[in-house]
Amino acid sequence: EFSSSITSVVDVEQKVEALLKQMTLEEKIGQMNQYSGFWDLTGPAPTGGNAAKKYEHLRKGYVGSMLNLRGVENVRKIQKIAIEETRLGIPLIIGFDVIHGYETLSPIPLAESASWDLEAIKKSAEVAAEEAAAAGINWTFAPMVDISRDARWGRVMEGAGEDPYLGSKIAIARVQGFQGSDLSQHTTLAACAKHFAGYGFSESGREYNTVDVGTSTLNNIIFPPFQASIDAGVRTFMNSFNELNGIPATGNRYLQRDILKNKWKFDGFVVSDWGSIEEMTAHGHAKDNKHAAEIAANAGSDMDMESYAYVNELAALVREGNVNEAYIDDAARRILRVKFELGLFEDPYKYCDEQREKEIIGQQAFHDASLDMAKKSIVLLKNKNQLLPLKKQGQKIALIGALASDKTSPLGNWRIAAKDNTAVSVLEGMQAYTGNQLTYAKGADVSLGKTQFTEELKINTTDRSEFPKALAVAKTADVVVMVLGEVGYQSGEGRSRTELGLPGVQQDLLEAIYEVNKNIVLVLNNGRPLVLNWHNEHIPAIVEAWQLGTQSGNAIAQVLYGDYNPSGKLPMSFPRAVGQIPIYYNYKNTGRPTLPAPGRVFWSHYQDVENTPLYSFGYGLSYTSFEYTNLQAEVLSDKEVSVSVMLKNTGKFTGKEVVQLYI
Ligand code: NOJ
Repeated sequence: EFSSSITSVVDVEQKVEALLKQMTLEEKIGQMNQYSGFWDLTGPAPTGGNAAKKYEHLRKGYVGSMLNLRGVENVRKIQKIAIEETRLGIPLIIGFDVIHGYETLSPIPLAESASWDLEAIKKSAEVAAEEAAAAGINWTFAPMVDISRDARWGRVMEGAGEDPYLGSKIAIARVQGFQGSDLSQHTTLAACAKHFAGYGFSESGREYNTVDVGTSTLNNIIFPPFQASIDAGVRTFMNSFNELNGIPATGNRYLQRDILKNKWKFDGFVVSDWGSIEEMTAHGHAKDNKHAAEIAANAGSDMDMESYAYVNELAALVREGNVNEAYIDDAARRILRVKFELGLFEDPYKYCDEQREKEIIGQQAFHDASLDMAKKSIVLLKNKNQLLPLKKQGQKIALIGALASDKTSPLGNWRIAAKDNTAVSVLEGMQAYTGNQLTYAKGADVSLGKTQFTEELKINTTDRSEFPKALAVAKTADVVVMVLGEVGYQSGEGRSRTELGLPGVQQDLLEAIYEVNKNIVLVLNNGRPLVLNWHNEHIPAIVEAWQLGTQSGNAIAQVLYGDYNPSGKLPMSFPRAVGQIPIYYNYKNTGRPTLPAPGRVFWSHYQDVENTPLYSFGYGLSYTSFEYTNLQAEVLSDKEVSVSVMLKNTGKFTGKEVVQLYI
């Protein structure tokens, strides 16, 4: 869609071919090399070690892309080297993990998916693209379209949940949002469908673990959102860290050549995941880095992210006849094609406008979009006796939980350019409603650590010294609002868990409060489904509020006070027990699917927990009620059936309902 006319496609192809002809083998391989630019570019240029080597390679034209480089001044400085100091002046493509926003953050992708609102999701990606593009970036490593049925895996926060159908629709919305209708605009980014493939099926939910799935799961569950991304015009793919059915995805020719490039006719390029070429040695699949480069290049990985394998080894491998030069040409061609489409050859600095950077980033319209998306992402899980919405006047409200005043956790794990403490907290959001008496007590912290790159986060606090203060506040309140869940970095990459309860002493805190006041609204902030049996049994109102980004507290307050009637539906099943995982709605029947007679043993079930999830995929309540009547199906052709239903709001609130049809 972005190549608006055939002539322009032909034009790009001709330019790519003309350029390829001028390039040496090393320069072509250079296009296939991506470095991270994670150093202080505004200070003196670093010397020694890898950093110095990177500059040297950059000047020789041995770098095709940089990631982790942002800000107009920084990007311009590096781009200038590529343009002015290399022999051919080929511009760099600048990638970054713009996952759910740049500085103004939207909800984490799993939360956005709970909106089932494709227009809003597309808009959120558009905003992310516009803001990031104003900071010099032109390529995002998103959307992650890995289907997952395993809440133990920390990266479920980054995907669209368990369903290949919803996941495909959301993949399309995100790709279209990031890329817009014209990739050469300075407000759009090239998108990247990742991680190809199977990463969401890591055995036992353990990060980076082996994946072994059959053809049915691969074709019917894992592939569809990737195919949908191609239909939407996605320009890049990222392969994945995991082994798939015996071969690491990065070295997997079946995935990258047979399926992606040949069968699906993908003409963009594939970037490796960080170090995933080199990691094939640890997998036991390659002897060393050189062997890994050979396997990856032959398998169709076009760009090496931070393995230093292509830049150091590929030329020799070609000369020795172990990698066909046609594969190098093919990879360079694909990368150059996307650079032309981005308009980087016309103007390599088109994303580098200081004035625009100042004006665009953090603008009010982005905050409005983020708030809108955040409200739509909230799922009401329980609301006994209509405890919610809260009254706006005359109530004594106790607000409890460290996450209630946390201005960082709502930013989630992929916070990119958002600074710590920039999210609106629940406390702040609720303080904007002044008709009630609001008292806050922390009760307990969640974990000891707060940073992304340390392991402290898994050490949850055992400190109960603040319990008494919280109990005192709760005792005299009409309603207690408790904000509990995971710290922002407790889900995401590298954050697998075997238990899915509330981390730390939060459960103890909740149960202690429940002893003194049962009128509790539990607001959950988390990046994955949790096990909530006790909560479902005892707590009258439960609100799933995920990690909602910059406007988190405002969105939650508006829902609690009824200014927005929750409309979200779960994109992933919430199990009753970790032992049920993998659990998902579109399971196959067994030969013994149902209880044949009371007390019988030999049917497909557990002794201790029922088969169903606690809250299923597609579940979510509203302050109002809906009635469905008059379901009709009409066969339109041998391929189309039209289905309609009358939907009536039978309650007292204006509301929005996601009508779902399962076949
Ligand atoms: C590793 C992650 O798996 C991938 O999703 C991300 O894009 C890269 N790191 C770059 O940050």
